[in-house]
Amino acid sequence: MKLNNNTKHIPVLLDAVINAAGDVRGKYVVDATFGAGGYTRAFLDAGASVVAFDRDPNVAADAEKIKSEFGNQFEFISRPFSYMSKLDGKFDIIVFDLGISSMQIDVPSRGFSFRADGPLDMRMSGDGKTAAELIAELSSDDLAKILRDFGDIKKAGILARAIKSAEPQTTFALKNLIHNPRDIAPVFQALRIAVNDEMGELVRALDSVPGLLNVGGKCLCITFHSTEDRIVKQTFRKWSTQPGDPRIPTQAQAKFVQIKTLTPTDTEIAQNPRARSAHLRGVIKSY
Ligand SMILES: C[S@@+](CC[C@H](N)C(=O)[O-])C[C@H]1O[C@@H](n2cnc3c(N)ncnc32)[C@H](O)[C@@H]1O
Repeated sequence: MKLNNNTKHIPVLLDAVINAAGDVRGKYVVDATFGAGGYTRAFLDAGASVVAFDRDPNVAADAEKIKSEFGNQFEFISRPFSYMSKLDGKFDIIVFDLGISSMQIDVPSRGFSFRADGPLDMRMSGDGKTAAELIAELSSDDLAKILRDFGDIKKAGILARAIKSAEPQTTFALKNLIHNPRDIAPVFQALRIAVNDEMGELVRALDSVPGLLNVGGKCLCITFHSTEDRIVKQTFRKWSTQPGDPRIPTQAQAKFVQIKTLTPTDTEIAQNPRARSAHLRGVIKSY
């Protein structure tokens, strides 16, 4: 796969994440979404040890570079972040910077972008079904549900039937089927979320967070989409209810305190438009 090496991912809400994390000298961090390593590097520079996940094999070179600089302070795991349930030991910070990176969106051959033509792929890991294969396999009702749930598309049924009957194989072929220009980005986003089972991954990973955190440890999540933000918000709220509540799973029998939700400043959005829909939510495991 040919990558555009000129693309640089600007980390979103990096200062806010570092501030929310506090003093991390000698602490243990899980970076669930390594990307270009912006968060990981900031935590390592601040004296933490970091275990980072990314399901995209293309980030390996950046991970190796950081490994060569920081040695045992850093470990990279080339797997989906739901695999964190298998980690041994306890951590002080677990951070998720959800969604895709600039490197992924800016390479036409990966099929994430409607701005350039490429195969309708959209797989972060390169494994599993491409977006074109998923469209071929789904019923139009199921495709409409994906467009509605993850793209908020109003006439999802009509559009799903049009997409099903055309079975587009390229990003431009899909784009040309979408008559309302305002629906283009949401349709691409909805398919990407489905192809990568992004919500399932998030739910599974969050499930293991309470058991992985030390007392005083924090979980910080940057979300970009209303459904993922709702999952994080509801999960944090559930953890923050009093222990003894029968609705709380046993592994979450700990008291969590929510950190104020933060959004990017206008200056950050002007410098990095990708930040515009970002929300940073956090919880502290207080006992
Ligand atoms: C927004 S970027 C992270 C950028 C990173 N914080 C930085 O500063 O460079 C999101 C990254 O998370 C990865 N990713 C998304 N979902 C994932 C999952 N379920 N498991 C592992 N990696 C995932 C993507 O491949 C992408 O590289």
